[in-house]
Amino acid sequence: MSAHVSTNSATDQRLADDRALIESRLHAALSAEPGVPDRLARAMRHSLLGGGKRLRPVLLLWAHDALAGARREDALTAGVALEMVHTYSLIHDDLPAMDDDDLRRGRATCHVAFDEATAILAGDALLTRAFALLSRVPGLGADLVGILADAAGPAGMVGGQQEDLDAEGVELTSDLVRRIHLGKTARLIAAPLAMGAILAGADRKAVAGMEQAGLMLGLAFQAADDVLDASADSATLGKTAGKDAAAGKPTWVRLEGLEKAQARARRYGLEGTETLAGLLKPGPAAENLQFLCRALWERSR
Ligand code: IPE
Ligand code: IPE
Ligand code: MG
Ligand code: MG
Ligand code: MG
Repeated sequence: MSAHVSTNSATDQRLADDRALIESRLHAALSAEPGVPDRLARAMRHSLLGGGKRLRPVLLLWAHDALAGARREDALTAGVALEMVHTYSLIHDDLPAMDDDDLRRGRATCHVAFDEATAILAGDALLTRAFALLSRVPGLGADLVGILADAAGPAGMVGGQQEDLDAEGVELTSDLVRRIHLGKTARLIAAPLAMGAILAGADRKAVAGMEQAGLMLGLAFQAADDVLDASADSATLGKTAGKDAAAGKPTWVRLEGLEKAQARARRYGLEGTETLAGLLKPGPAAENLQFLCRALWERSR
């Protein structure tokens, strides 16, 4: 029991430290580039800096650590790139033409704080900036760019977003909901695990295993997001609650109700965590990663 408690507090401390490290790299990444128009730079900073949980970059870093990687600096760079792509996806997701949200990460969405055109461009800017950063990781730039581009692209996040919009108000099947969630969300949860593994020098089979675990964890993550939309309040979430039902979104909550959706989040989460456990050498770094995986579906915001 005491060992368990001390592991958890050590993990919490590590999480706080690594989040702080990521925050500082995100700040640095946006101040480093000269020649960016002021309004665009302000919009990028507004959305990227402060407020996000930073789960994807920490996942990348801790996957790297759990596989005994020795490239933490590069893992941080890759984490920054990933967070930029994720943030771009949120800026566009919030646009009036998509989910039409005015609250994100506890502040006004980018198109509300600035304007629609600036928000579209801030998203474009974060997306392209991310790949420029990633391409410069010594030796592995092309591999990392490939993984992230596939995960974020037309057969991944962007495709999932298209299907999410197409499915508003449409009759759902579990196959359809699962496919949409795999695309719009799970691919960008699996990417950090695969990228962390690549940076740790893992072999092809281990990278594929990490990616597979990440897809299940990503399904759990989106199921939890849908449950929270239907059950938590906007102040806690930092985004407007209750909008999925109003828009007829393709969620597990709409298909099968809150309780079953919650059980599904847990089921997917445990499946992903088990797959992961089979790939890691037992030890503190593996425990940290598994703790973080639990937080993907057992969360309050
Ligand atoms: C929100 O992601 C979008 C989904 C895929 C559900 P997060 O819940 O990770 O958002 P931030 O980064 O903490 O704001
Ligand atoms: C978002 O799904 C997925 C992406 C941004 C790619 P949601 O639309 O459910 O995310 P939130 O609830 O707005 O964060
Ligand atoms: Mg959406
Ligand atoms: Mg949304
Ligand atoms: Mg949501």
